[in-house]
Amino acid sequence: MGLMEPVKLRILTIKDLDAVVDIDYSLLGKKRRGYWETRLERAETSGVPSLAAEVNGKVIGFILGSASGWEFGIPESVGWIDTIGVVKEYQKKGIARLLFKELHSMFKKVGVETVYVFVNWKDWDLLQFFDKMGFKRGDMINFQLNI
Ligand SMILES: CC(C)(COP(=O)(O)OP(=O)(O)OC[C@H]1O[C@@H](n2cnc3c(N)ncnc32)[C@H](O)[C@@H]1OP(=O)(O)O)[C@@H](O)C(=O)NCCC(=O)NCCS
Repeated sequence: MGLMEPVKLRILTIKDLDAVVDIDYSLLGKKRRGYWETRLERAETSGVPSLAAEVNGKVIGFILGSASGWEFGIPESVGWIDTIGVVKEYQKKGIARLLFKELHSMFKKVGVETVYVFVNWKDWDLLQFFDKMGFKRGDMINFQLNI
């Protein structure tokens, strides 16, 4: 299913806090304003810009990435995708692919050679999406201890 309206990608800033909180709420059912405020503030110094996808001036999706080590001024070779989300009504139209492609090219520009992402194995949408984008299971092992 294609999208008829033009999609604009731009840098995500703290001014997008309301939009991000609403999108997250619509996807996961929780209002996490404090959490997103911290995340968006941190995003501005994360080594790669985070991105918003807009249709008709409204944010309908976003991606947050980071390149580790950037805080010391040294771009390292590992990048992270921290979060990606597209509102339900605009899913399956190629928006996440656009966001990912743009982040991918920015990762390349800062010297990132490997991109990591954590996905819950029950998150079918995200698993399918990252599989489609060419991701394979990595060598890192996720350890967990409940306290
Ligand atoms: C995963 C997610 C980002 C995909 O966004 P999207 O805009 O629908 O993805 P795209 O349309 O760009 O899809 C790209 C490819 O991935 C595949 N894909 C995406 N979602 C899929 C799904 N649910 N099932 C199967 N394949 C899927 C598509 O087949 C597509 O490949 P194609 O173009 O060859 O058909 C979206 O479903 C989402 O936001 N899910 C919730 C994520 C979440 O909880 N985030 C945390 C809160 S913000």
